[in-house]
Amino acid sequence: MFYKIAQKVMFQMDPEQAHNLAMAGLHATGNSPLNCFYRQDIIPAPVTVMGVTFPNPVGLAAGMDKDGEAIDAFAAMGFGHIEVGTVTPRPQPGNDLPRLFRIKPAKAIINRMGFNNKGVDNLVANLKAAKSGALVGVNIGKNRDTPVEQGKDDYLICMEKVYKYAAYIAVNISSPNTPGLRTLQYGDLLDDLLSSLKAKQKELADKHNKYVPVALKIAPDLTAEEIDKIAQSLIKNEFDGVIATNTTLSRDGVSGFNNSSETGGLSGKPLNELSTRVIKQLADCLQGKLPIIGVGGINSAEDALAKLDAGAQMVQIYSGFIYQGPQLIKEISDAYRAR
Ligand SMILES: Cc1cc2nc3c(=O)[nH]c(=O)nc-3n(C[C@H](O)[C@H](O)[C@H](O)COP(=O)(O)O)c2cc1C
Repeated sequence: MFYKIAQKVMFQMDPEQAHNLAMAGLHATGNSPLNCFYRQDIIPAPVTVMGVTFPNPVGLAAGMDKDGEAIDAFAAMGFGHIEVGTVTPRPQPGNDLPRLFRIKPAKAIINRMGFNNKGVDNLVANLKAAKSGALVGVNIGKNRDTPVEQGKDDYLICMEKVYKYAAYIAVNISSPNTPGLRTLQYGDLLDDLLSSLKAKQKELADKHNKYVPVALKIAPDLTAEEIDKIAQSLIKNEFDGVIATNTTLSRDGVSGFNNSSETGGLSGKPLNELSTRVIKQLADCLQGKLPIIGVGGINSAEDALAKLDAGAQMVQIYSGFIYQGPQLIKEISDAYRAR
């Protein structure tokens, strides 16, 4: 009920202003009695993925809380995990405004944010300050002005800094809004990145006496052959998991609607089937060797269960959370429990 009213107000505002206002509100209230406006008790529905036991299979996808400013508020809503980031080594402003667009009739969003974030040191301070004990995945990326060939160094810097505080680390090579980033999904660049990250993980696991799983986040805009190559590289390099998928460059399902020709990544309902298809193909290639976290267009419990049926072990939501509110977390978790 509260969310429906809040949504009505926010949908009258510019999307990014609404986002900033909501994040400020959540930051301010996460640990106060005012979190009663969004707090939910979710009946435990534990799931173990990548060796970590999550209280339920519904996580917040990356990009909503890029700097980890509202971890405790999202925990109060009942998310089984919260993926913060994408964070880069140095702070950066992201792309010019406007860069975030709603396509309401299609329950979709287009964004070309471009990894706006306050840098990894600021994120680490926020991870240390979080009180809820929620399981936080940290999604890492490269700065826009770091050449792709040196991108690996940015991932290694972020990994080293967040390792101690993360439940898992997500390696984002699939945002369409950082020029050249998606080239890291292919061939030698991918193999080199994954093997370097794996070596770093081993070093950090020894140093901190703690094993933090590492997952790769991939795009939905890949051919079957490309998906197979990525899967083989993930297996070879003993990665712990894969997050499928990021936003799409396709405009299927939104043509003709306002904002549909904006540049950027499309998310929400029109992405649902494409992302489920990628999960299915990935699952066929991986043969259970590593788990899949399914994300893309989940708007209902049914959508989430379809991702699990396609081969995912747990799910994340972003756009569906904007359109449906925190209630969606409960609906999915309860449906999972009832299976
Ligand atoms: C405004 C916005 C910003 C996003 N930023 C990031 C990001 O920084 N890193 C990332 O890995 N994914 C990012 N995403 C992608 C989401 O995490 C998710 O993969 C995608 O939106 C598909 O899920 P959905 O249909 O439930 O939104 C962003 C999505 C949106 C809508």
